[in-house]
Amino acid sequence: MATNPFADPLRFERRVPECATVIFGAHGDLSKRKLMPSLYRLAYERKLPSSFAIVGNSRTPLSDDAFRQAMHDAVKQFLEDSPFDEDLWTSFARNLYYVPGDLKDRRLYSAIAARLDQLGQKNVLFYLSTQPSFYGPLVDCLGASGLASAPEGAWRRIIIEKPFGHDLPSAIALNEEIHRVVPEKEVYRIDHYLGKETVQNILAFRFGNGIFEPVWNRRYVNHVQITAAESIGVEGRGAYYQEAGALRDMIQNHLLQVTSTIAMEPPALFEPDAVRDERAKLLRSIRIMHPEEVPMNAVAGQYRGFRQEPGVDPESPTDTFAAATFFVENWRWAGVPFYIRSGKKLAKRTTDIAIQFNDAPHVMFNSNHRGGETHPNLLIVRIQPEEGISLRFLSKQPGSGMRLRPVSMDFNYGSSFGERSPTAYETLLVDAMQGDATLYTRQDMVEASWRVVQPILDNWSGRKFDFPNYEPGTWGPAESDTMLARHGHVWRNS
Ligand code: BG6
Repeated sequence: MATNPFADPLRFERRVPECATVIFGAHGDLSKRKLMPSLYRLAYERKLPSSFAIVGNSRTPLSDDAFRQAMHDAVKQFLEDSPFDEDLWTSFARNLYYVPGDLKDRRLYSAIAARLDQLGQKNVLFYLSTQPSFYGPLVDCLGASGLASAPEGAWRRIIIEKPFGHDLPSAIALNEEIHRVVPEKEVYRIDHYLGKETVQNILAFRFGNGIFEPVWNRRYVNHVQITAAESIGVEGRGAYYQEAGALRDMIQNHLLQVTSTIAMEPPALFEPDAVRDERAKLLRSIRIMHPEEVPMNAVAGQYRGFRQEPGVDPESPTDTFAAATFFVENWRWAGVPFYIRSGKKLAKRTTDIAIQFNDAPHVMFNSNHRGGETHPNLLIVRIQPEEGISLRFLSKQPGSGMRLRPVSMDFNYGSSFGERSPTAYETLLVDAMQGDATLYTRQDMVEASWRVVQPILDNWSGRKFDFPNYEPGTWGPAESDTMLARHGHVWRNS
């Protein structure tokens, strides 16, 4: 049976300062599926401070105990790859509290302040996991109630969930609204892709090794493909999703942040602003499409059946698939296409990055020996599932004659490390408690990525698409293949 780490304080790592986490939207889906299981898991790993408190809020009237029970059931259901320990839960749940109330009601904030006082917690992390339209008013109320101001020697930080804005103007307005109350250095905009082990490992792979950077540029790289494919549909999130669509839901944030990780210049230091400066610089180097270029460089798709999903308008024009070709205008990447795509109900669940290198300048083995096909060198970074990195190259097939065949050198997390990796939310929650914003997005990064997708959003909002245009279980609409074919390329459909 697993032991209870709370029973032995010496085994409890004191890495994080004493603090309270106040979760707005604590009875919602994200809290149940991700936040609570991550906090419980951090307790299990002894990463939480010896004195911590989690204060949940939502409108549902619940007592502390009823909230604890609801979270117990959620954690038990959604905890991935780890055992649920009832004894540990009992110790953990003693630190869970609940303050019901309406976000627009100022009395809620006084009640939260009183609860924090009673708990003796001075450092507070506010987690905004509400409907996005509440972010601005909520931060206003935190300011007006005094909750956003920390006593001497303590801190107040806010984590803001995505989506951060709906387009460029709304993201700029939201940043202004937040900055009226909270300085940028205390604002933690979450993009959970940056917290994924495999995305963090891109930095280790690129900048911890000497052999890759010399070929990491336009001279050697032919093009880059970034795919985030999901086999599931909108899974009961139809109402949210039809307002968002794939371009906003995945590309504007997650995949552009992945692009910045793959393509940015090496930072001089591994420090929050040194890393974020480079990411921001890269995002600002992406060429902004002219309106007339959008139809050639961006593809929208919608799967058959989306309009029949619960909560979705039967004539919804929302994209459940989006693909785009971007160019990074700097010395390293000029002329190298970055193809990015994401969609729901695709052929399989896979998120990966494929870096395709140029062919050998002169091939002395004639095409017969290569089976008539070309097999360029490919470096594939598998974000999920089957996390790992593979390098594909040609090898001589054993036997007489010179017959070449593509083979692969593989690194797999599972077999190399054999231990469970923390989830993105575990990593990011601890980082915020420690005041480390390296893996959070900054104002300029968010605004730069909205600037990149804005011409596509503008073009799509004025166009009538012939949706649905792809069948569930495929790789999206045919136009997505045509987009690459214009440059002589094809999607790698693993
Ligand atoms: C979320 C999107 O941000 O990311 C979802 O809103 C999407 O639509 C999810 O399914 C994908 O995250 P992951 O970690 O499962 O790749």
